[in-house]
Amino acid sequence: MVKLEGVRRKLGPGVQFHCEDFHASEGVQLALWGPSGCGKSTMLNLISGLLRPDSGVIRIDGKEIQGLKEGQLDEFRAQRVGFVFQTFNLLAPFTALQNVLLGMRFADVLPAKEWKPKATEILERVGLGHRLHAKPATLSVGERQRVAIARALANRPKLIVADEPTGSLDPKTSDAVMDLFLELVREKSLTLLLVTHERSIAERLPDLFDCSRLVEEVAS
Ligand SMILES: Nc1ncnc2c1ncn2[C@@H]1O[C@H](COP(=O)(O)OP(=O)(O)O)[C@@H](O)[C@H]1O
Ligand SMILES: [Mg+2]
Repeated sequence: MVKLEGVRRKLGPGVQFHCEDFHASEGVQLALWGPSGCGKSTMLNLISGLLRPDSGVIRIDGKEIQGLKEGQLDEFRAQRVGFVFQTFNLLAPFTALQNVLLGMRFADVLPAKEWKPKATEILERVGLGHRLHAKPATLSVGERQRVAIARALANRPKLIVADEPTGSLDPKTSDAVMDLFLELVREKSLTLLLVTHERSIAERLPDLFDCSRLVEEVAS
């Protein structure tokens, strides 16, 4: 499902990201784990096409993405990858339902007549059926992250990437959101790559990739 071969990306003078070999099979839930600054977000951004490598091959669902043109890469990302971020990245002027709908309209993978019923269904599934018309500022942080999870899943991407998804949540909310997130990912047989620096979060996933040696010094 996800494969990196000899991927390098310059990060600064004399510093580069380097992943020689990484592979995640379809349907796995894998933690990308390591200390702060070790290159986890860089790796996730390379995999999801937010960042381009200087060299190497990145293959997602059988497709090499490193050579795609900007527009093709945007399309690939919108249609194939669901994102969950530490700070939710919801659009403040819009309601929970509108946030999910905007993601569906942008990706345009499902027929337009299905957008609203599907968005409503997935928000009900994450326990927010009574908060469809609430704006992010009026939601708790746990609820905001559940909206973001609903948005990530709405287009039915095979691959979900999450960067410190519980990093802004207190421990109790973090546990509840992780329970729900993992339950949904398993129910839909999705592939999940989840970045975390917390060992206790990493250990909740069946697979772990140690990211602690991804950043290296090079002659500049
Ligand atoms: N755009 C950038 N320009 C320069 N350095 C960067 C950039 N992005 C990340 N870095 C550096 O690369 C290293 C890895 O960063 P990052 O992938 O964000 O780590 P993590 O997510 O594991 O905390 C850090 O030392 C960071 O300062
Ligand atoms: Mg990071």
